[in-house]
Amino acid sequence: GHPHIARKNGELQVEAVSLTSLAREHGTPLFVYSKQWMLDALAAYQRGFEGRDAMVCYAIKANSSLGVLRVFAEAGCGFDIVSGGELARVLAAGADPAKVIFSGVGKTRAEMRQALAVGIGCFNVESEAELEVLNAVAIEEGRRAAISVRINPNVDPKTHPYISTGLKGNKFGVAHDRAVAIYRHAASLEGLEVVGIDCHIGSQITDVSPYLEALERVLDLVEAIEKTGIRLHHLDFGGGLGIDYNGDTPPGADTLWRQMLTRLDARGFGQRRLIVEPGRSLVGNAGVCVTEVLFTKPGEEKNFCIVDAAMNDLPRPAMYQAFHQIVPVKDRQDGSPVLYDVVGPVCESGDWIGRDRKLQIAQGDLLAVLSAGAYCMAMASNYNTRGRAAEVLVSGERATLIRRRETLDDQLRAERFED
Ligand code: LLP
Repeated sequence: GHPHIARKNGELQVEAVSLTSLAREHGTPLFVYSKQWMLDALAAYQRGFEGRDAMVCYAIKANSSLGVLRVFAEAGCGFDIVSGGELARVLAAGADPAKVIFSGVGKTRAEMRQALAVGIGCFNVESEAELEVLNAVAIEEGRRAAISVRINPNVDPKTHPYISTGLKGNKFGVAHDRAVAIYRHAASLEGLEVVGIDCHIGSQITDVSPYLEALERVLDLVEAIEKTGIRLHHLDFGGGLGIDYNGDTPPGADTLWRQMLTRLDARGFGQRRLIVEPGRSLVGNAGVCVTEVLFTKPGEEKNFCIVDAAMNDLPRPAMYQAFHQIVPVKDRQDGSPVLYDVVGPVCESGDWIGRDRKLQIAQGDLLAVLSAGAYCMAMASNYNTRGRAAEVLVSGERATLIRRRETLDDQLRAERFED
């Protein structure tokens, strides 16, 4: 599953670069990404959409580092953003504002103004209240905001409850039954220009069926909305395609979209402009986190392998009980495999990276936590006053430090004592 992250002579490499040498140069914990993996993942979407009017908007929340954004901007991608900060990041990376779409349930007026000023492509509006505020802000600014309304199609993506977003009980989108009324109202507001429809049903989806189910529901709505005389220029099906963490078998983006396009064609929407908002599937398996074994500690019930990466660097296990493969960077000939809980230095029992892992390791060895390109660095925190890790982007034999390790000074400089 990791064509550009493979073992050569018993040692894990990212493309042509040794992780041991990168760790020696930059220290650990260290995120290392394969540029070619990202470009290949994007190419799978482009293959799926060949001959169609489609735009891939990378959902940057998955990994918003500038060096990563630049890869996608140079490849012609659009971007899906959820904050003013993310807007500033994509612009800094060279994005075309017309290819930026703005999602999220809680956009502030200031963020709306910022996005209107640079002329983003579309706001994905998530509530009736947001529609009113965006209309008012656009009128104040003397602009018209291009909008899609995010529909909650009420389908079960069969993924972790924290990352399911398209069920009735979720905070996202507007209810299916309200959609036609909301579109009619939106079309009557002078600060808004209705351009599309949007949905996103969840994340780490490994099956085509919830996508097909959402597709049918969205198309039913498109037909109902267009009967009222409103034209939807684009259809946005969100992100959510899963990756292989532990033998998961999600469809490829090309396979998924071949099936989606067959249904779109059958219903007469195959020539409509299509937008997708993938995050994880563009970066997740492009990255590893290299970490050093600080200590091994035999316990009464369990053996612990204490590493220098922690829940502040790799929050997914603690937050979602997520599984990441953990492998030694270098195969070791001596010793024998032992079952360990791999844990970080943070003072919480929730600070674990992997449980019951069989590893043949010793103090000072390097481990690689795989599938660490998405929702790791982007969710990293300073808990326990730990500086955020450094990041390296590898392309062939070239390795670029795209983010230096955060220093204590970086952390302290926003703080003040009482006068
Ligand atoms: N579009 C919208 C509106 C979203 O909310 C999301 C992700 C995406 C696109 C991108 O979804 P993706 O293709 O990455 O599945 N931190 C969690 C995942 C949270 C996903 C949030 N929304 C995790 O680590 O599993």
